[in-house]
Amino acid sequence: MNLILMGPPGAGKGTQAQRLEKTHSIVQLSTGDMLRAVVASGSDLGKQFKDVMDSGGLVSDDMIIAMISSRIDQDDCKNGFILDGFPRTTPQAEALDVMLEEKQLKIEHVIEMKVDDDAMVARITGRYTCAGCSAGYHDEFQKPETEGVCDQCGTGEFTRRDDDNAETVRSRLQAYHDQTAPILGYYKEKGIMKSVDGMAAIDYVTDQLNAILG
Ligand code: AP5
Repeated sequence: MNLILMGPPGAGKGTQAQRLEKTHSIVQLSTGDMLRAVVASGSDLGKQFKDVMDSGGLVSDDMIIAMISSRIDQDDCKNGFILDGFPRTTPQAEALDVMLEEKQLKIEHVIEMKVDDDAMVARITGRYTCAGCSAGYHDEFQKPETEGVCDQCGTGEFTRRDDDNAETVRSRLQAYHDQTAPILGYYKEKGIMKSVDGMAAIDYVTDQLNAILG
């Protein structure tokens, strides 16, 4: 099963993708995570990506499309994948269709996580991630069971993203509405678009997704 999770920054795409990975034995393909790995490598390309990401803008379509195409070819995607953060522009959505046809694959579900922009700044500025296993947490909404210790791997080191500040979030939300939201219509026309209430509690959002995915 292959699916796309759509929604603005902070909608809960990553949070839910990590859960669906386990319950449906499919892999999360987050273009944001892939870009952050290149940034962490310290390469010249990584420095270019970092400048764009810190501004809240989007990395060029060509780079992203090539990156996701080679990732889908890897063995761990054979059972299915969750696209998280891709496609983000109409050219990316069109390129995905061509790419999947060539690979004889298809997307079964596109799910929009409907949220209020106003709540997204608090979600994003409170987010942090386990440095050991990348499990996601929030200062208020998703705390580890024991404070300062990751539930999944037990380490006590956490990181926060450079672009998770209020100013950059507003630019990212603007980029979403200008460049990504128009794709929703593209998928509605194809008849594979569904939506869930992303403002609900995290567990209830998972229930809504599982009801769609079966
Ligand atoms: P990316 O990493 O994709 O970030 P994003 O789309 O801005 O999404 P986020 O990761 O911020 O949000 P999320 O929906 O995953 O929320 P999460 O589950 O963590 O992209 C970063 C940058 O990379 C872009 O700005 C761009 O520059 C570049 N980029 C990436 N892809 C690209 C592409 N295809 N083309 C071009 N450029 C690209 O949740 C957030 C917090 O809220 C968490 O702390 C969580 O615990 C909490 N939370 C989640 N759900 C709930 C809930 N239901 N109730 C309460 N709290 C919740």
